[in-house]
Amino acid sequence: MAEELHIPRHIGIIMDGNGRWAKKRGLPRTAGHTKGAEVFQKITRYCEKIGVKALTVYAFSTENWSRPQSEVDAIMNLLRRYLKDAFGFKGENFKINFIGERSRLAPDIIEKIEEIEETSKNNTGLILNVALNYGGRDEIVHAARSLGREILSGKIKPEEIDEAAFESFTYTAGQPPVDLILRPSGEQRISNFLLWQCAYSEFVYMDTLWPDFTPADLDRAIREYSGRQRRFGGI
Ligand code: IPE
Ligand code: IPE
Ligand code: MG
Repeated sequence: MAEELHIPRHIGIIMDGNGRWAKKRGLPRTAGHTKGAEVFQKITRYCEKIGVKALTVYAFSTENWSRPQSEVDAIMNLLRRYLKDAFGFKGENFKINFIGERSRLAPDIIEKIEEIEETSKNNTGLILNVALNYGGRDEIVHAARSLGREILSGKIKPEEIDEAAFESFTYTAGQPPVDLILRPSGEQRISNFLLWQCAYSEFVYMDTLWPDFTPADLDRAIREYSGRQRRFGGI
């Protein structure tokens, strides 16, 4: 390839379109989530292969609890199946984090995600953040609360709070900036994903539904990203 490709350091993916994928095939929505989970495994490995440092995937939002209980249960059970063997990533070098408010998750799920984080914490490959009961506003509220506690304990003064202090209480503290946010499925909205982190992310929207998403689609998104001129307010 003649053109020079810039590989984003950190990619965020809103894994959307599972339900529509299933509906198109006359299948239950759950079938779309199952296929979507397989695509997630494949794309994670592909990101590592091409040199992405961190990947954040939106798996379940703070708003997704409003779906019918049967769908929420099906998603949680699918998750349980995948957590059993750390998404099939056992033995791979990914450092797996779960981001979001975990106290609302079932105790057996919390136990598994803590175990996966513990066993992968010293891994040196791709940082994989799985967003579960995640909301960008909730993350910001969380950080504000933590800073409030620091003030009460006298560790920091209100006037010392700056962007870096705030950032240190986000779920992605210390990770590379989110260079690219990708949303398949044709929707063009952020849906409460990475609100703090996306300040200067590039956005790529694609019509492909997530269960149909392939490494070639990711290549396409990265080519588009590479062609963008990022100015960060400069000229
Ligand atoms: C994304 O696919 C998966 C979750 C939000 C859990 P959807 O289930 O939102 O699929 P569509 O948007 O209805 O097609
Ligand atoms: C965003 O997709 C959340 C996830 C992919 C986990 P939604 O399907 O929930 O978003 P909206 O409802 O279309 O905004
Ligand atoms: Mg959706």
